Amino acid sequence: MCGIVGYLGATNASDVLLTGLKRLEYRGYDSAGLATIHDGQLHVRRAVGPVDQLQESLTKSPVRGEIGIGHTRWATHGQPSEQNAHPHMDASGRIALVHNGVIENHSSIRNFLADEGIQFHSQTDTECLVQLIGFFYGRSGDLRESLELALQEVRGTFGIALVCSDHPETLFSARRGSPLLVGITAEGYVIASDPHAVVAHTSDVTYLEDDEVAVLSPAGLEATTIHSVAVEKRIEVLDLSLADVGLSGHANYMEKEIREQPESLREMMRGRLDVTNGRIVLGGLTEIERDLAHFQRVLLFGCGTAWHAALIGGYLFETLAGIPTTVQYASELRYRNPLIEENTLAVAMSQSGETADTLAALREVKLKGATCLGIVNTVGSSIALETDAGVYLHVGPEIGVASTKAFTAQVAVLTMMACDLGRRRRLSPEQTANVVHELATMPEKIAEALETEKQIQSLVADLSQHDNWLYLGRGVNFPVALEGALKLKEISYIHAEGLPAAEMKHGPIALIDKGMPVVVIAVQDHTYEKVLSNIEEVRSRKGRVIAIATQGDTQIGEVADEVIFVPPTIPALSPLVTTIPLQWLAYHTALHRGCNVDKPRNLAKSVTVE
Ligand code: F6R
Repeated sequence: MCGIVGYLGATNASDVLLTGLKRLEYRGYDSAGLATIHDGQLHVRRAVGPVDQLQESLTKSPVRGEIGIGHTRWATHGQPSEQNAHPHMDASGRIALVHNGVIENHSSIRNFLADEGIQFHSQTDTECLVQLIGFFYGRSGDLRESLELALQEVRGTFGIALVCSDHPETLFSARRGSPLLVGITAEGYVIASDPHAVVAHTSDVTYLEDDEVAVLSPAGLEATTIHSVAVEKRIEVLDLSLADVGLSGHANYMEKEIREQPESLREMMRGRLDVTNGRIVLGGLTEIERDLAHFQRVLLFGCGTAWHAALIGGYLFETLAGIPTTVQYASELRYRNPLIEENTLAVAMSQSGETADTLAALREVKLKGATCLGIVNTVGSSIALETDAGVYLHVGPEIGVASTKAFTAQVAVLTMMACDLGRRRRLSPEQTANVVHELATMPEKIAEALETEKQIQSLVADLSQHDNWLYLGRGVNFPVALEGALKLKEISYIHAEGLPAAEMKHGPIALIDKGMPVVVIAVQDHTYEKVLSNIEEVRSRKGRVIAIATQGDTQIGEVADEVIFVPPTIPALSPLVTTIPLQWLAYHTALHRGCNVDKPRNLAKSVTVE
């Protein structure tokens, strides 16, 4: 949440910052702002709303300078307004700061500074930090020392970039808990909260670690801890291209990412599926290879869509591997003082690898002795770094706020892990080979499922009139129902609930009235007959049933109002195909209602606040 960018180089900083902010906009779009230094003066522009608004204000009133910082905000403390937009300044007006994260002890800092006579201009926690730095600077005249002192005082998380008109050739940055990388270019530096804003300028980067400060100037990069201990930084090559972060001709990122799924899954499985020998090869688990046969419990956790994938994983770990598995919301797990038994494998699920609740839950279960794995998309993210081992999704950056390709990849990785663990316990070579072969066909089957788009487009004009929908599924497809409902809610603002189909009659059936859309996942597995009965129950209350069914099913058309067919597969893998029409359904409903699918209101990608 919140994107930050900083630049020091030889061209117009505001151009570089604006382009960077556009690439980071998926992290928040409540307001945007930037500050540059020119002729020894700070020049600040801020605007409410997306980066386009800031661009407009810069067109009217441009700023010059070859050093600067920028920010795109997802509001935590203080409503979206120009006053609360970053950059924030200290009382002297010489220091400007952009910040991603949360300063937890902001009120005590504010009170202390107010007692010292400092006036505040915003409701943000960030202003407390810059005012504190300015306060120390006013006393010592040493900016670096003042920055370190202030960072020692604050509790919470920060990724920051700072400029000061007294130091017109120096860019300061630091992090704790919020990601920050420094890109090294031929002429200087581009820093950002994620690589998307850096990739256009360089692929040579270094990642700041917690409680590190980087001071960038024409003299070079100087890194220390916040206690002034020098740190040696390793330069790494960014594994990301400009094409990965562009739209490549698509209307928006969500559409691009939905369509990418056959290819992203193929990429993710490359080298990990040994079809010839019917084996799974997960290189990321080598470090804990010897323990894999001995885990007696699995604990899966994550938030939102990642939690839905974990629920599917729970089902697969029990059915394929025969290991008792619990699935928890990371946000609950971290506060429930969990009982971690011996030989527990804990798996943190996160696309971004930065979700604050998931990271905190990971630290909690690690402390209590679990072996911790990460199933993460963002290479080098905090969760990836803090786990004992893990499997990367390798689906490329997911920029659309609603998670799509990461979800299918998470489900596929969990299937592979469950299959691998199962082979070490109770699956025969033939059973394992069966799953491996079926997994190998998934990219084609997902491509086929994507062809349901036209049919779905023809339904949404009617369906989108309804403000309440239900999604029903059973077994491994119950989490798919939850995921379908979440996608619809977050991008089209229609209220939707996902339920286990049989639970409907224990209360929610009271909601069903004439024409209410009820999306039912009714694939031909062992629950099929029961799901048909549930459909009848909906129809008796005049609900409108949209069934997701298996190609070749001749019975379903008799009970459902609409049938969307997906290719047949083994039950364990069915979520990979049933999810696809639900993604289209949410996407086209949202478009029909005129919603911005990439920037749904109140949301942002990567929830780094608790
Ligand atoms: C929904 C969505 C969110 C995320 C959740 C966890 O479409 O994207 O529910 O799944 O915020 O994010 P990660 O996976 O980055 O930890």
